[in-house]
Amino acid sequence: MDRIRIHGGARLNGEIAISGAKNAALPLMAACLLSDEPLVLRNVPRLADIDLMEKLLQSFGVAVHHRSGAVALSADAIRNTTAVYDLVRQMRASFLVLGPLVARRGEARVSLPGGCAIGARPVDLHLRALLALGVMIELREGYVVAGAPVGLRGARIEFPAVSVGATEHALMAAVLAKGETLLVNAAREPEIEDLGRCLQAMGARISGLGGPCITIEGVDELHGAEHRVLPDRIETGTFLVAGAITGGDLLLTDCEPHHLVAVLNKLKECGVEIKCEGNGTLRVRAAKKLVAADVTTEEYPGFATDMQAQFMALATQATGVSHVRETIFENRYMHASEIMRMGANIAVEGNLAVITGPTPLSGAPVTASDLRASASLVLAGLVADNTTWIDRVYHIDRGYERIDERLRMLGAHIERVEDTAAQA
Ligand code: UD1
Repeated sequence: MDRIRIHGGARLNGEIAISGAKNAALPLMAACLLSDEPLVLRNVPRLADIDLMEKLLQSFGVAVHHRSGAVALSADAIRNTTAVYDLVRQMRASFLVLGPLVARRGEARVSLPGGCAIGARPVDLHLRALLALGVMIELREGYVVAGAPVGLRGARIEFPAVSVGATEHALMAAVLAKGETLLVNAAREPEIEDLGRCLQAMGARISGLGGPCITIEGVDELHGAEHRVLPDRIETGTFLVAGAITGGDLLLTDCEPHHLVAVLNKLKECGVEIKCEGNGTLRVRAAKKLVAADVTTEEYPGFATDMQAQFMALATQATGVSHVRETIFENRYMHASEIMRMGANIAVEGNLAVITGPTPLSGAPVTASDLRASASLVLAGLVADNTTWIDRVYHIDRGYERIDERLRMLGAHIERVEDTAAQA
């Protein structure tokens, strides 16, 4: 198992192109199951989670071809509708194949998911939406066994709580249902709009994308399409923090600043200088002095929970007391104890973390517990004295493309080391 070694203290400088969004690409890939014509996706990031989704789709008989930077997915010969535990447990987003499979094939058997260790993360909202669309569901031996022998029918689905995955699931299933579906209290994340736009390009009839009420008029079948995955707003935010925390000067290209207004505003409140320089480009320059700020994670367009850990790393270097309140997931502060081992002053009580800064960080061996936690440890390592060793880096490879190589290009002293050599 690889580790990451960082010698902190280097200022990051230079230009970095932002990748396509993992959280958009995964549901988009699942959407290929809705048509027997190819879906061609551009700007798909090269990540462990994407490889896993490819494997899962291939296990159903989907043909996957990579050509000139695009991924073509052809689901014209589905021979299997079971998503096995071994593939689904590694990534929660795999569960999203359930709806498209049952909508197109009338049956599916999908293992209950695993994924990041950030709380219980049930799938009740996904199942409620499918049940409302007429899917029969049984839970058997760790699997969701779903059937819809006469197809799905449109329904009014009011989500009792906002869920990104459940909204995407309902959207993908409803496009092939008979009649109209109304999603009320839908999630509004840009990745959902991206999915909706792709489904529209495949012939789906959807209105209200980007808002809390989405209307879908079911169609008999969808056709092939080409779609470009939107830029990754979390990767963008992570590089912005990397620039700010190291006192650097970075130009981020191929990003979508409109999708991270809450993060931009918060970083500016901390004194970080950020400017939009033309289309899809952001420049971040270090603050003369970083100052503390309070953050509450919220559904989009609020401050993303996926940026909470990275913000916490920044807050350790800001003057004053920052309060971070996590409202989306319980148990999402596992990075805090690791950053504290590096010298940070953080007190966690329930869903509130109080960070008092600035504190000098010193390198230490630390363990990544989930994807965004591992990003925060990299950020802390970039600014720490001495050497930081990060264990379980497979978490970071799930969501950041070649992070070590790209940070190194910007001047970071960071290396990936095979475990056997790690302590040498
Ligand atoms: C997606 C993102 C993840 C991000 C999260 C919140 C992907 C692949 N992942 O995850 O990176 O952190 O949105 O922005 O896009 N919940 C239930 N029942 C359900 C579903 C969710 O109680 O059936 C709860 C969850 O436990 C959580 C909250 O709802 O507390 C929000 O979860 P949700 O929006 O569904 O997150 P994901 O789609 O899993």
